[in-house]
Amino acid sequence: MNRDGKKLVGRRIVVTGAASGMGEGIARLFSSEGANLTLVDIDAERLASLAKELRAKNAVCDVSSEREVNTAVDSAARSMGGIDGLVNVAGILVRKQVRETGYDDFQRAVGVNLAGPFLMCRAALKHLEAAEAATIVNIASLAGLRSQPGMAVYSATKAGLVAFSEAFSGELGPTVRINTICPGVIRTPMIDFMFEAQESDGSVKNLNRAARPGTAEDVARACLFLTSPDSNFTSAATLAVTGGHFR
Ligand SMILES: NC(=O)c1ccc[n+]([C@@H]2O[C@H](COP(=O)([O-])OP(=O)(O)OC[C@H]3O[C@@H](n4cnc5c(N)ncnc54)[C@H](O)[C@@H]3O)[C@@H](O)[C@H]2O)c1
Repeated sequence: MNRDGKKLVGRRIVVTGAASGMGEGIARLFSSEGANLTLVDIDAERLASLAKELRAKNAVCDVSSEREVNTAVDSAARSMGGIDGLVNVAGILVRKQVRETGYDDFQRAVGVNLAGPFLMCRAALKHLEAAEAATIVNIASLAGLRSQPGMAVYSATKAGLVAFSEAFSGELGPTVRINTICPGVIRTPMIDFMFEAQESDGSVKNLNRAARPGTAEDVARACLFLTSPDSNFTSAATLAVTGGHFR
């Protein structure tokens, strides 16, 4: 923390999925905490506008493409002079019964939700290891910890990400910490379609013990904790940010 109480001053951080929802919330909070950011997303227009507003660098990139990830990470490291933190937020929802899920849906979900963080971590590793105290935060999902009928493929990608993060932590030296956040129901453009019905029948209050959907800022605050020195003895952890889920 510096004299203004800001927790990320001078930290060089890459955030994927930054053009919307939680990624945008994390980018806004990290920027206000003094971080030097490179924002990564596939949505070029929204990315450019947020990067301009936050005076951050940006890299348009499909995180499921090895070539695009390697280029984006190299350019982030070059323009920021290194990388101290990586936050993998980019993801897509597949909300379909298995019988209705095409193999292309499956491959896309695995590509973005699981290969994406793997490719980003692998590309960023040499930069993170060269930094003084580096952090990785992967955004998985409560769906990766609890079975979610109708979301088998999505749940599998997120369970895979939890396992990947835990196993990868064992390959990292003491200077790189890695943690996973499993958000519950968070009101973002990804799942906004759910809320009209839930608000009109009142079931939105039964989502969790907090009796409300989470916000991007709720997740961003947990991510700030895991990226800042406040969590310097926390690694290989999986943190449920769910408002207190019922099962
Ligand atoms: N919203 C929820 O309730 C919820 C709950 C648990 C976990 N999650 C996870 O949290 C993360 C953020 O979700 P959100 O709710 O903010 O969604 P969102 O749709 O608002 O944002 C996702 C962002 O990822 C980007 N993206 C998608 N595919 C990409 C790709 N191939 N390459 C680069 N960027 C890509 C999108 O352009 C978008 O900006 C996702 O990994 C999601 O699976 C969401």
